[in-house]
Amino acid sequence: MNIKVEKLSKVFYSSRKKESERVLENINLEVKKGEFAVILGPSGCGKTTLLNIMAGFEVPTQGEVLIGNRPVSGPHPDRVLMWQFFGLFPWRTVSRNVEFAMEVKGVKSARRKERAHKLIETVGLKGYENSRPGGLSGGMKQRVALARVLAADPEVLFMDEPFGSLDAPTRYRLEGVLLDILGEKKKTVFFVTHNVREALHLADSIFIMSINPGKVIKMEKIDWSKPRSASLEKFRRKEEELLSYIHSQKDYTAMEGI
Ligand SMILES: Nc1ncnc2c1ncn2[C@@H]1O[C@H](COP(=O)(O)OP(=O)(O)OP(=O)(O)O)[C@@H](O)[C@H]1O
Ligand SMILES: [Mg+2]
Repeated sequence: MNIKVEKLSKVFYSSRKKESERVLENINLEVKKGEFAVILGPSGCGKTTLLNIMAGFEVPTQGEVLIGNRPVSGPHPDRVLMWQFFGLFPWRTVSRNVEFAMEVKGVKSARRKERAHKLIETVGLKGYENSRPGGLSGGMKQRVALARVLAADPEVLFMDEPFGSLDAPTRYRLEGVLLDILGEKKKTVFFVTHNVREALHLADSIFIMSINPGKVIKMEKIDWSKPRSASLEKFRRKEEELLSYIHSQKDYTAMEGI
């Protein structure tokens, strides 16, 4: 489904500053069905807020989000958000966390378990099916969360720094897993990262945000075929170009978080 964000702003009351704060200002963007969009921006620029609004968990102060040309008025089973801090159910085992969306859809137990088992293996957690999230490392929890969103098989995926807790080789492998799975089905993805190289591995379009207030300051289309090797000359050039753009921003210290 295509996604359109129109003139969107969000104001929060800051209890620290004792005043209202404009976190997002006049965000306009458009993403086509099947497109992989990446949002890059410094910590605190409003990436999670934007994702929450697009997924229907938060309401904008102004403007709107259209998914498949309809205004978003709340969460929807066709759209799934992978939370920045995993959001696993601590009382459920790994397998039953992954099975959750299938349970809601009424998928039969044997089919659910089989699919969960496969996905758990894909994310490298075979043998942990009956563990509970509390006993897992951050990176392992993140992989359970990935298996859980993939099991939900939604049309639109909102992913908030989904690989932020992983070591570099696991991150790279799971980027490949994600591209393989998404390559088969025409999913629309919004993916938040701080990592320019990760953005270049995955994105069809990259939106760069600034902070105070959070605005989209640059949009780049990357139309090279995937998977993409970081050793390609054009990859390296684009990576340098984006990094120097980010570092040239006036609010450089705030942007350094990228
Ligand atoms: N519910 C809320 N009430 C008040 N302020 C909020 C709320 N949620 C977020 N904010 C503020 O909005 C700003 C943006 O927060 P947000 O979590 O969207 O940033 P982010 O870009 O996702 O950062 P990070 O990269 O660290 O995850 C921050 O200043 C934060 O304090
Ligand atoms: Mg965030």
